[in-house]
Parts: sequence; structure tokens; C-alpha cells
Amino acid sequence: MKLLSTALFAGAAALAFTTSAQAEADGEAVYNQACMACHMTGAAGAPIKGDADAWAPRIEKGMETLYDHSLNGFNAMPAKGGNASLSDEEVKAAVDYMVAESQ
Ligand code: HEC
Repeated sequence: MKLLSTALFAGAAALAFTTSAQAEADGEAVYNQACMACHMTGAAGAPIKGDADAWAPRIEKGMETLYDHSLNGFNAMPAKGGNASLSDEEVKAAVDYMVAESQ
């Protein structure tokens, strides 16, 4: 019985997380889940979060361009970071978060 209630609780927690992620996209959480693998290490030439020199020329292109490249892909940057289940809002929130942390 204890096992069952633990499983139920885990299911409810996962559901609550999904619901809140859709209601209000948490850029930091999306970044940690879907973007960090490349944008923390610089894998494949990804601009590293917090590296203002790497981000400045990208930020100059304008947020609309950065959103577009994040949603649709750009060279080695996969569309939505390769995670097609993310909503557009979640991807944009992650861009906002990375840009805010990198200037
Ligand atoms: C598989 C590795 C990988 C993942 C995962 C990844 N990126 Fe990237 N990203 C890249 C690379 C590589 C570039 C540099 C592309 C270039 O300039 O040629 C890039 C560039 C970008 C840029 C700059 C685009 C521009 O126009 O200069 C943004 C914004 C960005 N990524 C956002 C994200 C977001 C948001 C996520 C998570 C949802 C993410 N990336 C996940 C590899 C990745």
C-alpha cells in the first residue's frame, strides 16, 4: 500500500509540474532540461551561457531572430534544442533566460 501511494504521489507531482510549465514557462527550468547540454559546455560551437562576448553579436541580431533560430534551428543549433515537445513559449522563455544571463 505504501508503494502505491508513493507512485500516486509521484504521478501527481509530475502532472502538477507539466501544468505549471504550460501556464507560465520557466526559462531557467527549460534551459536546464533542454539547452544546458550544449550551452553550458560550448558543444558544437554553441555560445556558452554567461559568455557576454559570445552573445553580444547574437543579441545584436535582435530577439526575433534569436527566437526564430531557436524555434526553427540554425546551423548546428537544432530546432527547439532537439526537444520538439517544448512549446514555443517555453523555448522563448529559455532564450530570454540565456540572454539575460549573458550580457
Ligand atoms: C545539440 C546542441 C544544442 C542544444 C541542445 C541547444 N543548442 Fe542552441 N545552439 C547550438 C549551437 C551549436 C549554436 C550556434 C549555432 C551557430 O551560430 O552556428 C546555438 C545557438 C543558439 C542561439 C543563438 C542563435 C543565433 O542566431 O545566434 C540561441 C538563441 C540558442 N542556441 C538557444 C537555444 C535554446 C533556447 C535551447 C534549448 C531549448 C538550445 N539552444 C539548445 C547548439 C545547441
